Amino acid sequence: MTDPFNFDDEASRALEALYLSSMSSIRRQKVRTLLDLHPGDTVLDVGTGPGYLADEMAAQVGPAGRVDAIDRSPQMLALAQRRCAGRPQVVLHEADVLKMPFPDAAFDAAASVQVYEFVAEMPAALRELRRVLRPGGRAVIVDTDWASLVWEAKDRVRAERIFSAWDEHLADPYLPRRLAPLLKECGFDVLAVEPYTVASLSPEPVPAGLAKMIADFAPGRRGVTAEDTAAWLADLAALHACGNYFFSLTAFLFLARRTAED
Ligand SMILES: C[S@@+](CC[C@H](N)C(=O)[O-])C[C@H]1O[C@@H](n2cnc3c(N)ncnc32)[C@H](O)[C@@H]1O
Repeated sequence: MTDPFNFDDEASRALEALYLSSMSSIRRQKVRTLLDLHPGDTVLDVGTGPGYLADEMAAQVGPAGRVDAIDRSPQMLALAQRRCAGRPQVVLHEADVLKMPFPDAAFDAAASVQVYEFVAEMPAALRELRRVLRPGGRAVIVDTDWASLVWEAKDRVRAERIFSAWDEHLADPYLPRRLAPLLKECGFDVLAVEPYTVASLSPEPVPAGLAKMIADFAPGRRGVTAEDTAAWLADLAALHACGNYFFSLTAFLFLARRTAED
């Protein structure tokens, strides 16, 4: 039973490959459009992972700006270090979202993509984000609501059991539906929410990588066995072979602004 929650070497590289896909890069583009960065801005990437977004934001803020990126996984930070090597304005830090190594009001903007769904102490994490943003500073937060997963299988009951085991990889697999009230409670105005759906009629590139992660993770949880996940993968392959593959999953992008008053 592997645990992608810890983002060790293998899980980090699997995620890096997944985030290379055009579907992930379109999502990052949407994040950057909402964040509306300008040359010279100071920006924070919370849970940078392999560093794709930090690298892209560095290009936007230019040499006069700065991107600080945090992650608690040294393996992820090593990938981000390699990716951002040519960008002196990117500074990486090994840190937790609950205690970030920055002074108050240090940033004009912040982004966090697929990170807070791993965090159990959400009010504390959002208060920490607020602390490091300047008054009026913008934050874009992206998380997936896993109830939006539609993944056709001949044996839907088995597939649902496997998905419910996969839910255990997150602190809250349904975070988006409670994120707006949480943000308001923690001193943010919520300006917008946008869905971003990945839909695919074939396993490549995103569903296949995700299926492997799920098949590695689920056995031993909620009664799911390795035989169950092997049969589910075979089920998906059979659907693909006859042209009946269907996958869809929705993430939600929230644009919030730090309120001025304390
Ligand atoms: C699914 S990856 C997303 C990476 C990146 N934001 C992206 O979209 O490409 C989640 C990342 O959040 C990091 N992470 C999870 N919990 C964290 C915490 N409490 N503090 C810091 N980083 C955390 C993980 O190490 C991992 O790199």
